[in-house]
Amino acid sequence: MKTIGILTSGGDAPGMNAAIRAVVRAGIYYGLKVKGIMRGYAGLVEDEVIDLNLSSVGDILQKGGTILRTARCEEFKKKEVRKKAYETLQKHGIEGLVVIGGDGSFRGAQLLSEEWNVNTIGIPGTIDNDIPCTDYTIGFDTACNTVIDAINKIRDTATSHERANIIEVMGRNAGYIALYAGLAGGAEMIILPEVEWSIDELCDKITYGIKRGKLHHIIVLAEGVMSAPELAKMIKERLPKLDLRYTILGHIQRGGAPTVMDRVLASQMGARAVELLLENKTKRIISIRNNQIVDDDIDEALSMKKEFNRKLYELSKILSI
Ligand code: F6P
Repeated sequence: MKTIGILTSGGDAPGMNAAIRAVVRAGIYYGLKVKGIMRGYAGLVEDEVIDLNLSSVGDILQKGGTILRTARCEEFKKKEVRKKAYETLQKHGIEGLVVIGGDGSFRGAQLLSEEWNVNTIGIPGTIDNDIPCTDYTIGFDTACNTVIDAINKIRDTATSHERANIIEVMGRNAGYIALYAGLAGGAEMIILPEVEWSIDELCDKITYGIKRGKLHHIIVLAEGVMSAPELAKMIKERLPKLDLRYTILGHIQRGGAPTVMDRVLASQMGARAVELLLENKTKRIISIRNNQIVDDDIDEALSMKKEFNRKLYELSKILSI
């Protein structure tokens, strides 16, 4: 193998740049040429390919976002569109492709492998941490740190006004950001898709908290359950006198300098992706499990079940009485 390509796809995540840097630097270290594909699969289809050298990835380790830009490419579900992507790879002599993204991006890589025999390696990059095969995805830790920073600030003002605050966090259909940031931020309630909850229990807890002299009530809500305005309406119907505000954190959770954990994870995964390509491996996803960098076949990886950490959730309840 002489030339490899790299692209980022789906929602961006802090640490993607660190992974790009690792792929480029490790690739060059091992004597490969590395090409960057702009805007994910869309750029592959439209032949937006650039040469990457050592200095192309200088000064990006600490930056959020992705220098290669990203896109969600629905068109890539069509075989004729994937054929164009293959032609671009052929044109640039790209024999191995590293795809940084989420499960939709890995499905694209899998099809490129199966239909066109392209060696593909997936690296999990999403703030949602919803990739079943890996304990952590690149970007998750940074997003959680952004959320707890927001919780800390909201708590200051909530305490001063003796208010309740709902903080809606991202995660798509998964509650990992809500769980980790909620526990680390000392939320009174965490509402997430993986665990049943009731509005009566939530309101009872707020009422009990007020009686015991709590000055604030932080409710972390995963977007996969409902929106913050909807939840606020439900609470106000039951507790009309409650002084309640809500904040939707939105895309600030996707930006910012990656944390140490995300940089280290991205560096390890990026370098491992290059090694796997050099070993002529294909259709693999790299993961971290039990603190080990491992890789699995894409099919197997995506059919794995990720145990929801119910113990952490129970702990958050115990600690917020
Ligand atoms: O998958 C990452 C994510 O940020 C989700 O948490 C969120 O639901 C979604 O992407 C938002 O997508 P967009 O950036 O297209 O609004």
